Amino acid sequence: MKKITLAITFITISALIFSCTKEEAAPVIPKTTFADISKITAISCVPCHLANSGANFDARKKHVDNYSITKENATIILDRITRDPSAAGFMPRGKPKLSDAEIELFKKWIGDGLLEK
Ligand code: HEC
Repeated sequence: MKKITLAITFITISALIFSCTKEEAAPVIPKTTFADISKITAISCVPCHLANSGANFDARKKHVDNYSITKENATIILDRITRDPSAAGFMPRGKPKLSDAEIELFKKWIGDGLLEK
């Protein structure tokens, strides 16, 4: 009887150890795409940076609602959105600074390879 109890205990402990050391599958973190970025820019940057807005006389006002232009200017945009709100050239002009999470998302978009979708 003792032997059976001992065997059961051994099996139970082994099973516990095995289940604890079994590797957990790495969580899948989705890549950030322009679709995610445009949710931020649609609120904070458009209409000032809207393509085909008709009255855009400032060549430096690049269109951040456009994937290829946003991609080409990713570094310039990151520079502007990370400036101090009191600094010249801060973006979004006249609005509060983007949240840390939004800025991080923009950095992640660059890190993920500036994907469109
Ligand atoms: C109220 C209007 C307005 C808003 C809102 C705004 N911008 Fe601008 N933006 C401008 C103007 C005007 C300029 C040109 C003057 C300058 O370079 O600072 C400009 C210039 C820029 C430039 C420089 C382009 C270049 O070629 O050097 C970048 C990058 C930029 N904005 C990004 C953004 C981003 C990203 C947002 C949103 C988070 C944003 N802007 C929101 C008006 C705006």
